Amino acid sequence: MDRSDNPLPRPFAREGEPAFGVYIHWPFCLSKCPYCDFNSHVRHAAIDEPRFARAFITEIAATAARVPGRTVSTIFFGGGTPSLMQPATLAAVLDTIAQHWRVAPDAEITLEANPTSVESTRFRGYRAAGVNRVSLGVQALDDRVLTELGRLHTTREALDAVGVARTVFERYSFDLIYTRPGQEPSDWARELRAALNEAGEHLSLYQLTIEPETPFAALHAAGKLRLPDDDTARALYDTTQEICAAHGLPAYEISNYARPGGECRHNLVYWRAHEYAGIGPGAHGRLEIDGERHATATEKRPEAWLTRVEARNDGIVSDDVLRHEEKSDEFLLMGLRLAEGIDLARYEAITGRPLDPARIASLHEHGLVETTPAGRLRVTLPGFPVLDAVVADLAA
Ligand SMILES: C[S@@+](CC[C@H](N)C(=O)[O-])C[C@H]1O[C@@H](n2cnc3c(N)ncnc32)[C@H](O)[C@@H]1O
Ligand code: SF4
Repeated sequence: MDRSDNPLPRPFAREGEPAFGVYIHWPFCLSKCPYCDFNSHVRHAAIDEPRFARAFITEIAATAARVPGRTVSTIFFGGGTPSLMQPATLAAVLDTIAQHWRVAPDAEITLEANPTSVESTRFRGYRAAGVNRVSLGVQALDDRVLTELGRLHTTREALDAVGVARTVFERYSFDLIYTRPGQEPSDWARELRAALNEAGEHLSLYQLTIEPETPFAALHAAGKLRLPDDDTARALYDTTQEICAAHGLPAYEISNYARPGGECRHNLVYWRAHEYAGIGPGAHGRLEIDGERHATATEKRPEAWLTRVEARNDGIVSDDVLRHEEKSDEFLLMGLRLAEGIDLARYEAITGRPLDPARIASLHEHGLVETTPAGRLRVTLPGFPVLDAVVADLAA
């Protein structure tokens, strides 16, 4: 992992500069993958997309009335499967954002897409609407594994979609899931090298998580889905770090790898605790209003969200002012995922108190964190696999 403390190249925003992200959630998928617990739903009847588009427009207007005058630095269409949206719907959403806020000329506008042939035929329409970055859910480069993961695409189709993305968008990324049942480090190394040959400036590599109440959780509980043991999981993780770094895409976050400057700027808004609006069913936001940081969440069920927005202009079901301790925990939880770590002075400015030096010293002694001359605290390579424990220790 590149541990240099160099600032990231322009036009990438430095941590201290203001950033404002807008997240739009499209909650529908063609089928539900057995490992997934995202707010995604399958509907067999046609979705009234113009009605959803009107609700998005209404909720954006209501949010902009609460936080006016912002300059939008990033927009992210996530899901669910937002590549099922018509390009016209997406264009209407982008137009509305631009009517209510200023959109920075170099704003990053990302769309999450499933890599099927049907969806890649829409890529040019999304580009014309303003999308300049796409993130594809490839998940594996092995057809047998793709079937086990319940995916609707083959490896060939996924690689073809990556090829279309490369020609249509300025920037693209794709996701793979590893630490899969039966996966050996040597197989993963081969698959990862093949993926890196297709990659641009960014890859997301997620370790398979067994999420409660998913079909994978039931299989796991019944002993029918065995994850790699701890030593193999560690070897898979170490292999990932080494191969990606050697290829020029070091980890900049626990699951994300990029050439310096190729980071996902939208996700950095979350990890660096900047401000963002959450639009659509089950979206979360963090809004700075009158010097206070509000945590907002909208109704998760798509149709209930729709009727709520139609009745009261937004789908918000909770809007809490974060207390100092909550801001502190969130800042640590998000910021320490990043290779760049956290700025200790900013921690103090945000939370109103410094981090306990005794706790830092103890983690330091165990080789799990390091402090830089520039006043940053970051997790070391041996610290990343036990990140949750490090955060819990500092937050306690
Ligand atoms: C919102 S989802 C994906 C977008 C798109 N619907 C797709 O599936 O291609 C974002 C990513 O999270 C990852 N993911 C989802 N559930 C996961 C799990 N249980 N374990 C590890 N990664 C997971 C997948 O790599 C997925 O591409
Ligand atoms: S992984 Fe993607 S396509 Fe599969 S259910 Fe989740 S959001 Fe939908």
